[in-house]
Amino acid sequence: MSSAPEVLQNTAQTYAREAIKFDSQGSRGTAIQMYQKSIEALIKLTKLYPNESHTQLYIKHAKRYQERIDQLQNTSDSPQDKRSDSQSGVVEIVKSTYDDVILQEKPNVSWGEIVGNEDAKKALRESITFPSMRPDLFPLGWPRGILLYGPPGTGKTLLAAAVASDIDGHFMNVDASTIMSKWLGEAEQNVAKLFKSAKHMLDEEGVVSVVIFIDEVDSLFGRGGNSSDTGGESRVRNQFLKEMDSMSDKGKNLALYVIGATNKPWSLDWPFLRRFQKRICVNLPSLDARVEMMEMYTSSLKIDESIRLSDIANSLEGYSGSDIRDICQSVQLQVVSKLFERGSPTEDVQPECITSEHFFEIMEKRKPSVSSEMLHAYSTWSDNYRAL
Ligand SMILES: Nc1ncnc2c1ncn2[C@@H]1O[C@H](COP(=O)(O)OP(=O)(O)OP(=O)(O)O)[C@@H](O)[C@H]1O
Ligand SMILES: [Mg+2]
Repeated sequence: MSSAPEVLQNTAQTYAREAIKFDSQGSRGTAIQMYQKSIEALIKLTKLYPNESHTQLYIKHAKRYQERIDQLQNTSDSPQDKRSDSQSGVVEIVKSTYDDVILQEKPNVSWGEIVGNEDAKKALRESITFPSMRPDLFPLGWPRGILLYGPPGTGKTLLAAAVASDIDGHFMNVDASTIMSKWLGEAEQNVAKLFKSAKHMLDEEGVVSVVIFIDEVDSLFGRGGNSSDTGGESRVRNQFLKEMDSMSDKGKNLALYVIGATNKPWSLDWPFLRRFQKRICVNLPSLDARVEMMEMYTSSLKIDESIRLSDIANSLEGYSGSDIRDICQSVQLQVVSKLFERGSPTEDVQPECITSEHFFEIMEKRKPSVSSEMLHAYSTWSDNYRAL
């Protein structure tokens, strides 16, 4: 059964599709009307469901359709111009939608910013950084796919960003749930397009290496992924498997690497896993890592001399890196809001120093976001499928 946002999504999409059709036929008036209706549905979506994962995408589409309406309203009425102008406008709409989901910006994260996870750092450097620097030293090739799996908030995305910053190449960041979105057309075509443009960069544009990073890879290829059309999931998965195989075909060593990240590794099946020769668990921080995180996150805070970060780190067992960052942030927020509650603070007024009690108070209210059952599930899965 369709959920309420889905109904609106369908409405918006149907109107958009019609609009594009009329637009490419040169029927300006109807196209404008249809774009308008699609915009209305999109705006409604963003208002009724502000936390929906595709809100940004809806806003972008609405803006783009509005721009197209403005363009259509301002074009001349001469019938010769109309057709070609329409065509180029429509192509623009369709093309920019795809480009939106593939972030091509290179991140700027250094290995030093990532605490712990030594196994993962080592594997990523060995499998991506080194081969991309000196491919001649790897006559037998290198792993094509690397899967980072583990509990949420442990640094998987951060690790992918660090390896991308490390290499002299191109980084394509793909959000899997967005590529599945009906907004972009057929998902398997998007997957094909992705690999095609990566290969084009390597073959034609002189790019040294390309990393394709697919976050939340389970939503694309997992059993029970979020694709609502029946059969869609397996088509997308097969397309992806085909693309992965073509990377190592014909004995050619393409400098193309795929990193997948997931916190539901068990929803991936063996044909998929097999193509990721390295499968690395990114786990909750150890005690040493927690101490280091506490030092890192409190370094810019005013903390009391009596505070023992190692004691706090000890009590933070079971919390993820992202939990620990959030706790430090909450502590800081708490002391600062106390200041504001006493009236607008002047510039010379400073918040009280942060003590251990502040931390314990927040931890009391905020339990680890990963349950022990979940940890157990990761460890069982690791026993069977880990590949370092
Ligand atoms: N090992 C770590 N070192 C430093 N910071 C960390 C670490 N793990 C998590 N963090 C902090 O938590 C934030 C979230 O981490 P990140 O997005 O990499 O987690 P993730 O494993 O990708 O989570 P998810 O599975 O939910 O996508 C980071 O931006 C960082 O601030
Ligand atoms: Mg992530």
